[in-house]
Amino acid sequence: MSDTQTSARSKRPSLSEPLTVVVTGASSGIGRAVAEAYVRRGARVVLVGRDETKLRSVVEGLDASERTAGVAGDIADVRTVDRTFEVTRERFQRVDVLVNSAGIFVGKPFCDYEPADLDLLVGTNLRGLVLASQAAVRDFRRGGRGGAIVNVSAALALQPFASIPASVAMAVKSAVNGLTQSLALELAPEQITVNAVAPGTIKTPLIGPPAGYEALAGGQPMGHIGEPEDVVDAVIYLASARFVTGVVLPVDGGMTTGHW
Ligand SMILES: NC(=O)c1ccc[n+]([C@@H]2O[C@H](COP(=O)([O-])OP(=O)(O)OC[C@H]3O[C@@H](n4cnc5c(N)ncnc54)[C@H](OP(=O)(O)O)[C@@H]3O)[C@@H](O)[C@H]2O)c1
Repeated sequence: MSDTQTSARSKRPSLSEPLTVVVTGASSGIGRAVAEAYVRRGARVVLVGRDETKLRSVVEGLDASERTAGVAGDIADVRTVDRTFEVTRERFQRVDVLVNSAGIFVGKPFCDYEPADLDLLVGTNLRGLVLASQAAVRDFRRGGRGGAIVNVSAALALQPFASIPASVAMAVKSAVNGLTQSLALELAPEQITVNAVAPGTIKTPLIGPPAGYEALAGGQPMGHIGEPEDVVDAVIYLASARFVTGVVLPVDGGMTTGHW
């Protein structure tokens, strides 16, 4: 083991030490639940979301102003990413964990996808994730303590459903899975882990209003769709697991296990 590897491994924050966590897509759904869970665990959390008013209301609701900060902007814009990590360094000196949850879904038959849909999907779900991860890795290196990235992918990229046409959206999530594995190998010697969760159907505004949840439940192996907290458990596990990297973990109540 090289000196750098030994040093990053031994300096990686212990499970009891307060972490600094950057969460993109933290103004809603899964990202919001992840941010709330980390705040409850005593972490310092930087929340990123697109809509400033919505983000401010979530940050204020956390009622932990000394341990939280919000950065509003489009994650596909490098200026948003730069500002996020500047704020993180200014407020909390370092970053330990990046959770890339910002994302959109555009599901439609293949030939109906417009070039604008493609740009939006690639911009938010891939470009933003790449830019944020690059910034985090630079800061992990500056800190010399390793670090963890958890990407939010999608179970439909592992097992498509004929009833949910989403080829282009899932092509982008497949790219996230490929990036997760390749980057995990590239960064492993620096004790930086890169993993992904692949949610099934989770109760968030992304899948529509609550009135439709009951109808979706029937199509699930467990007879119900997931809660954001179900994904939170997996994100927190992957972010803290020091010897687990390159994993794309389905959190889908068995959807991708087989035909049912
Ligand atoms: N819910 C599911 O069933 C499900 C299934 C599979 C995968 N996923 C994935 O899970 C992740 C989170 O989705 P969710 O269900 O929590 O959706 P959500 O409730 O709609 O939340 C999406 C979050 O991403 C933010 N966001 C969207 N575009 C952005 C941009 N360009 N720049 C910055 N922030 C942006 C949103 O901010 P604003 O609110 O300000 O727009 C919001 O905070 C996504 O990557 C999604 O693909 C979800």
